[in-house]
Amino acid sequence: MTTLSPSTAVKVNPATDPLQLIDVDHVRFYVGNAKQAAFFYAHCFGFQIEQVADLTTGTRDASHYLLTQGNIRFVLTSALTPEHPAAMEVAMYGDGVKDVAFTVFDAEKAYERAIKNGAQSAYEPRTIKDASGSVTTAAIRTFGRVVHTFVSRTGAYELTKVKQGATFAPQFRRLAEGCAHEPARGCAPQSGVTSVLSINEHNKKHPCGLKYVDHLVGNVEMGKMNHWVAFYENVLEFSMFKHFDDKDISTEFSALMSKVMSSGNNLIKIPINEPAAGKKKSQVQEYLDWHSNTPGVQHLALRTDDELASIAALRSRGVDFLTLPDAYYESVWNRVNTMLTGHGHQAVKEDHEAIRKLGILVDADDEGYLLQLFTKPLQDRPTLFFEIICRRGSQSFGKGNFKALFEALELEQERRGNL
Ligand code: FE2
Repeated sequence: MTTLSPSTAVKVNPATDPLQLIDVDHVRFYVGNAKQAAFFYAHCFGFQIEQVADLTTGTRDASHYLLTQGNIRFVLTSALTPEHPAAMEVAMYGDGVKDVAFTVFDAEKAYERAIKNGAQSAYEPRTIKDASGSVTTAAIRTFGRVVHTFVSRTGAYELTKVKQGATFAPQFRRLAEGCAHEPARGCAPQSGVTSVLSINEHNKKHPCGLKYVDHLVGNVEMGKMNHWVAFYENVLEFSMFKHFDDKDISTEFSALMSKVMSSGNNLIKIPINEPAAGKKKSQVQEYLDWHSNTPGVQHLALRTDDELASIAALRSRGVDFLTLPDAYYESVWNRVNTMLTGHGHQAVKEDHEAIRKLGILVDADDEGYLLQLFTKPLQDRPTLFFEIICRRGSQSFGKGNFKALFEALELEQERRGNL
């Protein structure tokens, strides 16, 4: 049997390989206040605040909000007790990504294979179930504070059903349904729910067009990039997709190195960055300085089919993006369109002036082009940010923009007193 992964349209063969990743099940953030963070991601990025697991559903140690858009599922978790790990981690790292979870056919087998391949356990397989079905999870540690959870689902909790609005896991309730533990009484929406429903309704009418997680980038310490490259090769059986050295990613003042790891079926790509020596501080080092010297996820790249519409929508909602000097657009069209026509591709079809006005970046390679733009940090610490990316054939990461981008980032670092 083959199934089609809706996030990538890549054919997945479930038959033999326990580490076949079917989908990005969810990305879990540990945040200081999940209720407020949910409204931030809904208002600014157009996510649906779809489900919650909290005191009203019998979850006593933490609150979890499921936010969805396209095939993106974020779970925002905040501690209700000082003992919950989210409490300690938020104190150390601020808000950020804790878990990039993968749907697999059998979480226990995937976990066992990863452990056999040399992974360190975060937690052993556990199953929660009710009359509707089950969700089995098991997790391995990756760089710094981040884990990868393997998730397998049965019955009403299968991912295909979750995508159609079914309950994410036992103890979650859909916000439209009101009170979960008294469904028979047909509880009216509780306080707070009405406002969630109105933002959800607004977002349905005014979508931001974000489809799925294209890639996520890990920042690790100097000298550790190759260690984590080997981890993804050996443990998760990824392969190296691209390699950028400090000559590719540097300015007069700062530099980094990066290797891009790709899952077997191209479901997800994970570039690993390490700082490189420069006259001034690398942006990766700035991240580590404000992340308790602990590696973590630097950015999530969210895919759209229409960069201009998505960026216009996000800007109108108040999202702060990196700003490039106007001089960027004096040379970009020549550079990009020469590359495209040289490889027999059509020039960039989107309106050039609209791209400039929206401050969008463009790059091309032998396969086509891409449009991308980076938000400023999503929290007070200069740590996690998002990239909004649209691919027109290109499978790379905007190497042609690195220099301009890093100069823009240095300006931001300087403003923060961190260069
Ligand atoms: Fe990126």
